[in-house]
Amino acid sequence: MVNDDPEFAPDLYRGVAELYDEFRLPYTPALITQLLDDTGPTGRVRALDLGCGPGLLAFVLADSFAEVWAVDSEPDMIDVVRSKIANSGIRNLHPVGAPAEELQAPEDFFDLVVVGNAFHRMPRRQVAERIAAWLVPGGHLALCWSSSPWSGPGDWKPAFGELLADWQHRLGADNQVPADLESTRNEQPDEAIIEAAGLVSTGRRAFTQPHAWTPGGLAGFIYATSFLPITIFGDRTSEFEVDLAGRLRPFLEDGVVIDEVSYAYDLFSRPVPADT
Ligand SMILES: C[S@@+](CC[C@H](N)C(=O)[O-])C[C@H]1O[C@@H](n2cnc3c(N)ncnc32)[C@H](O)[C@@H]1O
Repeated sequence: MVNDDPEFAPDLYRGVAELYDEFRLPYTPALITQLLDDTGPTGRVRALDLGCGPGLLAFVLADSFAEVWAVDSEPDMIDVVRSKIANSGIRNLHPVGAPAEELQAPEDFFDLVVVGNAFHRMPRRQVAERIAAWLVPGGHLALCWSSSPWSGPGDWKPAFGELLADWQHRLGADNQVPADLESTRNEQPDEAIIEAAGLVSTGRRAFTQPHAWTPGGLAGFIYATSFLPITIFGDRTSEFEVDLAGRLRPFLEDGVVIDEVSYAYDLFSRPVPADT
């Protein structure tokens, strides 16, 4: 299997999983409700959250499925999933530490596979073919996405973007994310790769939700990214937070800046053979 997708380092989220769980925004409930509506789980079927991180999707899907697998390649993320399971009483969540391209799962097994903000980090062709085999006929794949606070409209965004670029440079963190990621995805879109694996696109659903960020909330979000993770700041987090507060000061109202967060999912289905 040829993989010409750019490769991410395998440990980009080491040491940030708890911050990720605390500071990254949950998917808007409107997205979850619509996804369940579009895919119609009976409550007796299985779901897989691939590249689950601390399980933002897996935990909210648990009520609607008999069993949900939460799979991630980074051990720290799976440790957080395990501790949340222990503290929540949820018993139908099955955490697995494995890369998507090595996961052992039966064929024709899952009714829904979700991949939240993670498909672009995986060897897409290989993973799409594996997902197509894991899905039952008529099952669905949803690539879920949410926007980041440095993108989209907002008078404070240019100042925030400059802050991040400055700190990437200061910390020598310009190469955390592969430089050719966007060009590769533009040349070989996710949809084409997934359809080549035998799934059929059924379209995109998009949502927005306002969010009020405090400077502390934005700092936490940044510390939980793979391009400026807290682990590369060393003893400079206070310096970063003072700089962040200073650059946002002209835009703060009641201590917050307002964002319009975008959420979306791209939905695909595995065709049902004509003779069944
Ligand atoms: C941006 S986080 C998304 C986490 C969560 N799904 C969400 O929606 O917030 C990307 C996650 O994908 C995981 N990941 C990256 N490559 C992977 C792979 N090949 N197999 C499994 N997980 C992978 C990372 O460890 C990380 O937890």
